[in-house]
Amino acid sequence: MSEQAANTVEAGTASTATAQPSANKQHLILTGDRPTGPLHLGHFVGSLRNRVTYQDLYKQYIMIADAQALTDNMDDPAKVHNNVIEVALDYLAVGIDPSKTTIFIQSQIPELTELTFYYMNLVTISRLERNPTIKQEIILRNFERDIPAGFFTYPVSQAADITAFKATLVPVGDDQIPMIEQTNEIVRRFNRLAKKDILVECEALVPEIGRLPGIDGKAKMSKSLGNAINLGASEAEIKLAVRNVYTDPLHLKVEDPGHLEGNVAFTYLDAFDTDKDSLQAMKEYYVRGGLGDSKVKSRLEGILQDMLRPIRERRQEYEKDRGHVLQLLKEGTFRAREIAAKTNDEVKAAIGLKHF
Ligand code: TRP
Repeated sequence: MSEQAANTVEAGTASTATAQPSANKQHLILTGDRPTGPLHLGHFVGSLRNRVTYQDLYKQYIMIADAQALTDNMDDPAKVHNNVIEVALDYLAVGIDPSKTTIFIQSQIPELTELTFYYMNLVTISRLERNPTIKQEIILRNFERDIPAGFFTYPVSQAADITAFKATLVPVGDDQIPMIEQTNEIVRRFNRLAKKDILVECEALVPEIGRLPGIDGKAKMSKSLGNAINLGASEAEIKLAVRNVYTDPLHLKVEDPGHLEGNVAFTYLDAFDTDKDSLQAMKEYYVRGGLGDSKVKSRLEGILQDMLRPIRERRQEYEKDRGHVLQLLKEGTFRAREIAAKTNDEVKAAIGLKHF
């Protein structure tokens, strides 16, 4: 565990590293996604492109969390099943390299379920009720009183995912920080019980860049809101999406001074345009007045087309041989399971569940 984790966790606050941690092969990364739909630009900005960097700096494990996805999708298991391979294709398309990163499927590692069952006794119902993310998600999903027990306890399952690999860094969105706090509480309780540091505390690694808004200007890009640009989007889909990007409703005529706040075209340019000087000049021109939205959008479209073209092409290559992709997942899952099984053995031994 790093110094930082030691200091912040004991203070009872989120242990987060927002800056790039120093390159250190000692660190082990575990992160995951629920396979409920295709990944989009928001995922790319917030996590995928960082993972491509991390795989050269750390040991990295990426989990397709199909079992967790079922906690609020049990009415549609086919959707979850079908999206496992889609998410894997998105990973490969953006350059997550299975020779550097272990990609695996959660449901195929029964030890994760087993650990969840033991950890369940280290968490109280009232503690779960206090988890702010769970509280909010219950409202978002209109569960009211009919909350699936599996959904309510998914923070415990997530603790199992993280601790099974003894992960030290967990890249997640800021909404997942409470999960990391709960994980570290479980780690401390368990280690105290075991009188031995078997499990390892972790730090959340929260992306510096905030959430990407949807093309409609809503705070969050999401498939269900219909405001996303998918990583596999075609050239025509990208063109149409950029045409619909929300800008400044007060910028009616070209000569009107424009506003940058809440202007999604500029938010996207900030996220993807690497030529910061010329972007700055464009912003000043826009604010002064005299620069039309179509110029801004055509710059944005060019950048997105150039960025997404190689991703789409790589995705199409992998799509030709889904059997091969499944084989890569199988190999990753096999390697991941060995590690999870070892931790599970240690945990069982420490609580008297090792009989022979
Ligand atoms: N809950 C995470 C999400 O919705 C996905 C996830 C499951 C995860 N297990 C994890 C993330 C373990 C990090 C570590 O985004």
